Amino acid sequence: MSKACTAGIKGACAEKVSGPIKELMDCHQAVLKQLDALEKTGTELENGANPESKEKELKEFLEFTDTSLALHTRDEEQALFPLLEPKICGHACGAHGAITPVEVMMANHKDVHAAFAVIRELMKLSKEGNLEPKEASTEIASQIRFIVDTMRDHIWKEDNVLYRIAKEELSKEDLGRISKKMTGFRETAGFVCSH
Ligand SMILES: [Fe+2]
Ligand SMILES: [Fe+2]
Repeated sequence: MSKACTAGIKGACAEKVSGPIKELMDCHQAVLKQLDALEKTGTELENGANPESKEKELKEFLEFTDTSLALHTRDEEQALFPLLEPKICGHACGAHGAITPVEVMMANHKDVHAAFAVIRELMKLSKEGNLEPKEASTEIASQIRFIVDTMRDHIWKEDNVLYRIAKEELSKEDLGRISKKMTGFRETAGFVCSH
């Protein structure tokens, strides 16, 4: 499993990133495992489980999104995508002004992170007694379904399209620049890799 994706909170993670695309792909595998567990929780909520009975699982997932997944999103948006987008546009951005594949990925990031915030709020409302547990379960399950479906599709597209182009078309110097940025993010991340 990727070092970035085994992160817990506290301290600083000063890992050097040598192969940035491999690091990102390893991180996807860790995210997919988290999604499998989240989907199970969503099914239990759909089947009538009380949100409080699933609090531990939901909290663990949200902690992962705040640390490793947030770092992964930053790696892509601030290190990889700025260098990758011009290469992808050589393949896929036909009409001037068309939304690019990178922009689609960034819109997914935004939508999914917004869904995490909605889950957090629903849990809070339910805990405070301001939302019926049954309604909270249904709403949280619906957000989970959206996250799981969106993320699985998103990861497939990144692994099979965007990263493939990255591996073929980014120069050694480009990859070195991406590694340097990702290493810098880990030095200031505020959490430690638990490997
Ligand atoms: Fe992404
Ligand atoms: Fe990704």
